[in-house]
Amino acid sequence: MNPTKRRTVIAGNWKMNFTPDEATAFINELKPMVAGKDNCDIIFCAPYVTIPAAMEAAKGSNIKIGAENVHFEDHGAFTGEVSAKMLRAIGVDTVIVGHSERRQYFGETDETVNKRTKAALAAGMRVILCMGEVKEQRVAGITNEICAMQIKLDLAGVSAEEMKNVIIAYEPVWAIGTGLTATPEQAEEVCALIRGVLAELYGKEVAEATTVQYGGSMNEKNCAELLAKPDVDGGLIGGASLVAAKFTAIVDAAQ
Ligand code: PGA
Repeated sequence: MNPTKRRTVIAGNWKMNFTPDEATAFINELKPMVAGKDNCDIIFCAPYVTIPAAMEAAKGSNIKIGAENVHFEDHGAFTGEVSAKMLRAIGVDTVIVGHSERRQYFGETDETVNKRTKAALAAGMRVILCMGEVKEQRVAGITNEICAMQIKLDLAGVSAEEMKNVIIAYEPVWAIGTGLTATPEQAEEVCALIRGVLAELYGKEVAEATTVQYGGSMNEKNCAELLAKPDVDGGLIGGASLVAAKFTAIVDAAQ
């Protein structure tokens, strides 16, 4: 983390977990545990149907609620999708785009990730843009090339001004939900590489101001070491974001 240059963001990705009632109970449990811990932003990205209840429960606290995906069109014949306009209409201003599970199971490509990113930014939303290599790519020694390529494709057409609303989440796919965490050194190496690519695309100032998170089995035990790295500005947390005590430990490490 480098809190003098950029905001630390601790974000939970609930994935397909928590009904509205379960989310309400979770937020009510968590609120007092994270109250006043303002050295990082705290966001939970929730399933669409859970968002209103989670927002209601989080009212007046330092917890924000976002979405897990967004479509690139405003409206139309896109069964099962939700637009940025719809999310804005219920007060959602942060959204995950390009999560590896979307890429792996739902056919998302860098092209659709780019379109979704641009649509969300155009609607004034903040985007948590996920990218990272799969195991075969790491083993083949092409992690850096893959990550640089993804960043360039996913951010194509995004302006330097819009980068104020972009958070990058480096999530090595082999570390997601597997219990295998990147070492702090591996996380730092790629997060720093990402910052270098951002500097190439947008200049040093934008690169230094952009929050770059690590995600992939971050938990209450490994968070302090990961967050201590200068280019790791927070976390995108799956499993550990469903347990108040574990999530609080990560928020504490970011203080
Ligand atoms: P995990 O998920 O923390 O359960 O590995 C992270 C993510 O998918 O964003």
